[in-house]
Amino acid sequence: MIVFDRVTVEVAAAEATKVLLDDLSCRMDSRRVALIGDNGSGKSTLLRAIVGLVRPSQGRIEVDGLDPARQVGQVRRRVGFVFTDPMAQLLMPTAVEDVELSLTRLEPDRSRRAARARQALLDWGLDELAERSVYDLSGGERQLVALISVLATEPAVILADEPTTLLDRRHRRRLEEVFDGLDQDLVVATHDLDWASRFERVVLIDQGRVAAEGGPRETIAHYRRLTDG
Ligand SMILES: Nc1ncnc2c1ncn2[C@@H]1O[C@H](COP(=O)(O)OP(=O)(O)OP(=O)(O)O)[C@@H](O)[C@H]1O
Ligand SMILES: [Mg+2]
Repeated sequence: MIVFDRVTVEVAAAEATKVLLDDLSCRMDSRRVALIGDNGSGKSTLLRAIVGLVRPSQGRIEVDGLDPARQVGQVRRRVGFVFTDPMAQLLMPTAVEDVELSLTRLEPDRSRRAARARQALLDWGLDELAERSVYDLSGGERQLVALISVLATEPAVILADEPTTLLDRRHRRRLEEVFDGLDQDLVVATHDLDWASRFERVVLIDQGRVAAEGGPRETIAHYRRLTDG
């Protein structure tokens, strides 16, 4: 369970301080949570705060009982993060080496690690991508490899920041299906309201606050009313 208790995140801007999360409270205890809201509303900031990439100036965050500001290592072992742009997290020359890199902590033995990485790709039907340069993969293939690399670390929770935004319809659907089938708890920021409507719980962020939360139908309807004026 992830709890935000009156969390404020601010950064020093040119003239005044800019408030990114504004006294935000939220309890994410569902298996699948979608974050929706306008550009700049604070979704990415909220996800980043969960893994300690940004710190609250006020308030408290709890991730399965851990404080991301003080127990960042433990939090990051529990929580995997999938970025919008997979190239932000694919660091190695080939796909299989990237999955191997993720396995460093869990599998110290080098040859077993290599076998396990290959198996992970095989499990997802992507063994033919193993030796390919990540630069030669399509956007959808890269996003899948990035997700497999995160899954290889066996996180209990996966955060994903618009993981399908850069994909065409076909790859988007494939990725969504993969995410929908995961056993891990999921918190996903997305502008894809059709996808959001398949989540258990939807949280609408507006100007750094929770504007509405609940079942997908009511929350998305609320968002549509807000944007359609
Ligand atoms: N380091 C920073 N310094 C100044 N402003 C920032 C910083 N990080 C984020 N912001 C601002 O905070 C606001 C919230 O940003 P955030 O990225 O969380 O929005 P978002 O809901 O993820 O938007 P999008 O849908 O476009 O991804 C934006 O106005 C953004 O410009
Ligand atoms: Mg964002």
